[in-house]
Amino acid sequence: MSGKGHASDGRPVTVPRLRKMKRDGERITMVTAYDATFARLFDDAGMDVLLVGDSLGMVVQGHDSTLPVTVDEVIYHCRAVARGTRHAHIVGDMPFLSWQVSAEQALTNAARFLSEGGAQSVKLEGGVDAAPTIERIVHAGIPVMAHVGLTPQSVHAMGGFRVQGKTEEAAARVLADAKAVAEAGAYSLVLEGIPTDLAKRITEEIDIPTIGIGAGPHCDGQVLVCYDLLGLTPDLKPKFVKRYAEFFDEGVAAARSYRDEVRAGVFPSEEYSFGNVKKSETPAPNPGLNLVRHARGAYGPKG
Ligand code: KIV
Repeated sequence: MSGKGHASDGRPVTVPRLRKMKRDGERITMVTAYDATFARLFDDAGMDVLLVGDSLGMVVQGHDSTLPVTVDEVIYHCRAVARGTRHAHIVGDMPFLSWQVSAEQALTNAARFLSEGGAQSVKLEGGVDAAPTIERIVHAGIPVMAHVGLTPQSVHAMGGFRVQGKTEEAAARVLADAKAVAEAGAYSLVLEGIPTDLAKRITEEIDIPTIGIGAGPHCDGQVLVCYDLLGLTPDLKPKFVKRYAEFFDEGVAAARSYRDEVRAGVFPSEEYSFGNVKKSETPAPNPGLNLVRHARGAYGPKG
């Protein structure tokens, strides 16, 4: 591990620390995570922020949008991520209609991500319209990461997952959204699917960190969906995604080897077996109990 000032220095990543990173010109690294194993992987890699994104509706649950995801489901995944995380800051994503109905409902839902899910802040998609709700949540002591530009929960209003802010008028609206959420007290802002120069301008004009996804290189940080980053989405390769591994292909190859070895009787060999019953006058300990008791120790030679 390396990287002075980042999660890899062993200190927990807090909201003040993320804000300081912008002031110090240190880039913020963020990735989605949905379970304890992936959380552990990214935490060990020194990632600053883990987002339990409602993208889980697409990559984990197999839906074609994030709209069916519920608060309970995101909280369930938050708890798993929290168990696998030591240093990274955990953000719980507020799903579709979890904050729009009323400020009371927004606040109650936001609080659950912290009290039940183990998250340290929440994220919500929305600009000018979301600003009063963000203010309310922030005043209750819950840090909010905002999200403007391409907001996947508005997929139908946008007519698909389309880059936003491409004309001067549309860019002015995204800029106004960014300023409104920063003024409302959001501590950071995801900029998704907007032109590079617009993201640069927003990053320069607001004093909270911007975290880009499909928003070019000038943001204060970057976020990717972990399944994209690791190459687990074989049928999908959006322009803004760089794959740093090909886990899907490796997984298929590994599964084929396992299948072939089982069919050929090669696996399990002696190396992966527990030998034969020892001849003895005293009865051996109950092997069933032994296995259960030591299951988490990979059936070691205890007892
Ligand atoms: O849900 C998610 O994964 C997100 C990121 C794309 C920012 O909102």
